[in-house]
This record gives sequence, C-alpha cells and structure tokens, in this order.
Amino acid sequence: MKISLEQNITIMDPCACLVIACHEQGQRTANAQKIEESSGGFLSRFLASGDFTAEPGQCQLLYGVPGIGAERLLLVGVGSGEKLADGKLQKAARALGQTIAKAQLTNVSLALCDVSIAHRSMSEAMEIWLRGILDAQYRFDQHKKPAKHPRRSLEQIHVLPAPENSATNQQEMQDAIATALAISQANDWARDLANQPGNICTPSWLAEQAVNMAAQRGIESEVLGPVEMEELGMHLLLGVAQGSRQEPRLIVLHYRGGAADAAPIVLVGKGLTFDAGGISLKPADKMDEMKYDMCGGAAALAAIQAAADLALPLNITVIVPASENLPDGQATKPGDIHRSMAGLSVEIINTDAEGRLILADALTYAKRFHPDVVIDMATLTGACIIALGHQTAAVLGNHEGLVAELLHAGRSSQDRAWELPLFEDYQEQLKSPFADLSNVGGRPAGTITAACFLSRFTEDYRWAHLDIAGVAWQSGENKGATGRPVPLLVHFLRQRAKAV
Ligand code: BES
Ligand code: MN
Ligand code: ZN
Repeated sequence: MKISLEQNITIMDPCACLVIACHEQGQRTANAQKIEESSGGFLSRFLASGDFTAEPGQCQLLYGVPGIGAERLLLVGVGSGEKLADGKLQKAARALGQTIAKAQLTNVSLALCDVSIAHRSMSEAMEIWLRGILDAQYRFDQHKKPAKHPRRSLEQIHVLPAPENSATNQQEMQDAIATALAISQANDWARDLANQPGNICTPSWLAEQAVNMAAQRGIESEVLGPVEMEELGMHLLLGVAQGSRQEPRLIVLHYRGGAADAAPIVLVGKGLTFDAGGISLKPADKMDEMKYDMCGGAAALAAIQAAADLALPLNITVIVPASENLPDGQATKPGDIHRSMAGLSVEIINTDAEGRLILADALTYAKRFHPDVVIDMATLTGACIIALGHQTAAVLGNHEGLVAELLHAGRSSQDRAWELPLFEDYQEQLKSPFADLSNVGGRPAGTITAACFLSRFTEDYRWAHLDIAGVAWQSGENKGATGRPVPLLVHFLRQRAKAV
C-alpha cells in the first residue's frame, strides 16, 4: 500500500476515484461547492433525489459526473455542523473504508481536508480517515482455496492538500500518514496472529512469529522453555501448561530506541493459545473462540513492532507467557497448590482462571528489567464483558498517573477504556484456607478480583492492567480479532515519546 501527499494535484485533475465529504441539508463543504460549480449543478440534482442524506456513515459512489477529471466520485456523509465530533468522524471513516473495500477500488484520491473536526488538528483527522480505510482492507482467508475472481485490494491513496489558507503542516501530515500505516500494519498482524487457529498458533509457533518480526527490525529476542521456567520457579505458568502436549514459552523482546540508561516500558500480554478451561472444562458453545485467548500477547507484540517502525525514542520490553490450557491426566486439578516465582503459594480452585496464573509469573519476571512502568493486557475475565460490553476495555492499576495516561490514549485513539476500582476491600475475596492466595474470588466483581490477584505480584513497580476480554474480538457475522488494544498502546507510546 502506497500513501502519498500530493501538493500539486487538485480535485479537478484526472484520477480513478475522488473522495469528497458532504454535509447534510444544503450545507456544502468547500470541495463539494467546487464540484457543484464545475459539474453544472450535478451534485445538487443528485442530492435532490433524496437517496443520499449525508449522515455520518452514508457513502455514495457516482460514475460519469460531468465537468471533473475523476472517473468516479465517492461522497462520504459527515452530517451537519461546523465541526465534526470524534465518534462521527470515526463512523464516517469506517463506512468510507467499507465502501472502498466493497467496490474493490485500487486507487483513491482523498480530498477530505476541508472538513474540520472538534478538538483535532487536520493531521489527526487524516489519521482517522486513513485508519478507517486501511482497516477495512483486512482479510483473513489464507485457509480458503483461492477465489475464482481474486478480490482487488487498495494499492494507492493520494492525499490531496487542504484548501488555501489552511494551517496544515506538511510534516505533521507526513507523520500522520506514517503513523496510520504503522498502526494499521501492527493491528493487522495482531489480528492475523489471533485469527490463526489453535492447531497452528501454539506457544512455540507464536514465539517463532515474534522472533521473526524482531529479527527484521533489530529488536532483541529471547525465548524461555520449561527448563528455564523450572530454574526460575515459574510453577504457576508450568502448572497451567502441564495439561498440554505443547510446551509453554516465555517470549521476551527488547526494543532499545531510547537512552541507554532509560528505564523500559514493559508490556506483558496473555498468550494463552487455546483455553479449554482445563479440568474445570468450559461448555462447548463458542469454545472455538478461546483461540483468541492470546490477543493480549498479540497486541503487546504488535505494539513493539509499531514502536520500532516509528523509531520511537523509547526502551520497550515485551513479555508474553504462552501456554495452552487443556484437560489431561497430568493437568492441574481444582484444589492443587502451586508456588509462584514470587514465592506466594496459590490454591487453584478453578483451573479456568489460568490467565492470572501465567501473568503472575510473567509480572514477577518483569522486575528484573527495572521497569519505568508495567502494563499488562489480557482477555482475562468473562465478567469484563458483562460490565463493559464489547465497546470498552477495563483499566485497573496501582498508579493514578499511569491509569490516566491509558484512559487518555484510549480516548485519542478511539480505542476506549474505562477504569474500575482496585480497592483493598476486594482482596478479601482471594483468601484461601490452605495457601497464600486463591486463584478465584467468586462471582461478584470478577474483573476486579482478577486484577487484585495480579496486584499481589506487581507491588514493586508502577503497574496497570487492561482487561480486553470484550474488545479483542467480534463474534457473529463479522467474526474475528479486532486488533484492540493496539491503537491505544501505540498512542500511549507516542505520547511517551513526545515527552522524552
Ligand atoms: N479466557 C477466559 C476469559 C474469557 C471468557 C474471555 C470469555 C472472553 C470470553 C479466562 O481464562 C477465564 O476462563 N476466566 C474465567 C474466570 C473464572 C473461572 C473466575 C471466567 O471469566 O469465567
Ligand atoms: Mn480460562
Ligand atoms: Zn483464559
């Protein structure tokens, strides 16, 4: 995919498909006005048909518009009002992406710099448009036989300049293009990893993908297996893996873009490549979706990839504990007690609460890197879907400033999160009569007690946890991984990079 900023092209020049924004009810964008004039009123005649109301999310492809150079004219509705609200822009950008993908356009010219967005610069708005277009190109069809008529995908986007007198900064625009590309590539990779079925995406396969990605970018990598885990005393991770024929892996990557002595940002992602629940077996309905239980790991890997591609001046470490969780004669049984790397013993009341176990040892391992902050992300609890649905991720943490940064990154990237409390009172629910901790805290506040469990292993550093069980994938007709929270993470990292 090529995206170029075209200072010398106007909307009247020949092109395959010109994209312009349209307002509701007679209000005209600058570009719509120009086309109205040069086409001898074509646009108003079309709008008079009433087929297109220009509300955000509506798109219309027109052929044979007179008086302009473009073969096709694509109208994207942006609603009414001087300045577009964020959510509406994203809705319009998504719809535009889907229209382009559905029509299998290979080449589009965007003349969208004449719509202004509330609280956003021109380049930030362009980033949202581009993300909407790029994301809609994603397909996961590698296991299907080749189509008779292969789908054409988008090859080239021309970004046309803002109208005269506008304060668009060229460099900012170039950055927005590079950022949109890097985020979309990282996002697509996270989706690819997650959509891959459990018989292919095993812990060692996931480690291989991470190592290959790292090698291409000069990111350091190291992969630990059961022998090293045994030496380190990671019995929670080993305890989850012991019911599987696939060996567990601890994937560790270091991107060193910052000063040699700068403490790293550590990202820890749950890499459970298939969660059957173990001896506390899950019901059959939708169990296939538990191949997505490595979405946290995929997002952490994708985020470090984007950071390297954007050459962010930061040191970033990624840790992904990877395992399967299956029932077996060797598997951990309810009531078993395992000792964590941190020394705390854990009574495994429910073997399906495995994510917190593998994360606990990975979070303990994080300490050796003397982190500035540690952020973990995991498809950790079904309760999170009940609390926040599929729209919003949960954030909990032991440091207000870090939590605020993540909430902010979620807002700016339209990959939103919301805070849940980590009050001390909830720790009560994790008491065990036989060990230092129980791995479950009962039905009430399931997302919070899961985070409380993690908090026992993160006392030595600033830490936040993202529960992405609701946002990481979609069920139903458009089933598949979403790539979330990659946009949130990349925005967080870019914000950090600006502060360096
Ligand atoms: N991976 C699941 C959480 C999950 C469930 C994510 C459904 C998305 C959809 C996790 O390992 C799990 O099974 N959690 C249990 C915890 C419980 C046993 C305390 C859950 O949420 O039911
Ligand atoms: Mn589970
Ligand atoms: Zn799980």
